[in-house]
Amino acid sequence: MPIDKNELRRVMGHFATGVTIITTHAGSGALHGLTANAFSSVSLMPPLVLVCVDKKCESYPCFEESKVFTVNILGDDQESLSRKFAVSGGEKFQGVAYRVGANGAPILDGVLAYLECKLTDTCEGGDHTIYIGEVEEAETREGKPLLFFRGGYRSIGD
Ligand SMILES: Cc1cc2nc3c(=O)[nH]c(=O)nc-3n(C[C@H](O)[C@H](O)[C@H](O)COP(=O)(O)O)c2cc1C
Repeated sequence: MPIDKNELRRVMGHFATGVTIITTHAGSGALHGLTANAFSSVSLMPPLVLVCVDKKCESYPCFEESKVFTVNILGDDQESLSRKFAVSGGEKFQGVAYRVGANGAPILDGVLAYLECKLTDTCEGGDHTIYIGEVEEAETREGKPLLFFRGGYRSIGD
């Protein structure tokens, strides 16, 4: 018998992660983004990362449409941004400071790091799709990360 989904969510909550906002754009050019912690490094040569995106997300089709995404790794002062991008749809970028990166996806101001990616592969992952991207540009700044653990936001030292 497979484990119940709420129990899996509870157990996986014990695996502490950082928090990202994955940005992309629609074929029309409209900007999209979602909060995600199912993000991982895949390979160094070539430089690949992955993100798992729920097929029910409004931004889901944009990955295939634009073939680009940017991973914005949040600092511990960006919890409100994480909450904003964890709500489906709407004008998420209103009131948010950002610039459009070389790949066309937004880079949010003040993030701890960002990775601009070109979509290279997709894999089926149940109710999610695994998007694999080649990293073309990336940058970091000093600061502490926003963390997610047991269903709550944390920062180092909590
Ligand atoms: C801490 C946290 C982590 C999340 N991680 C993911 C994730 O890895 N993949 C995903 O598809 N949704 C994830 N979500 C849920 C999405 O952020 C949420 O469904 C969002 O509303 C999708 O936006 P959209 O429908 O406008 O695309 C996460 C939410 C939170 C609060």
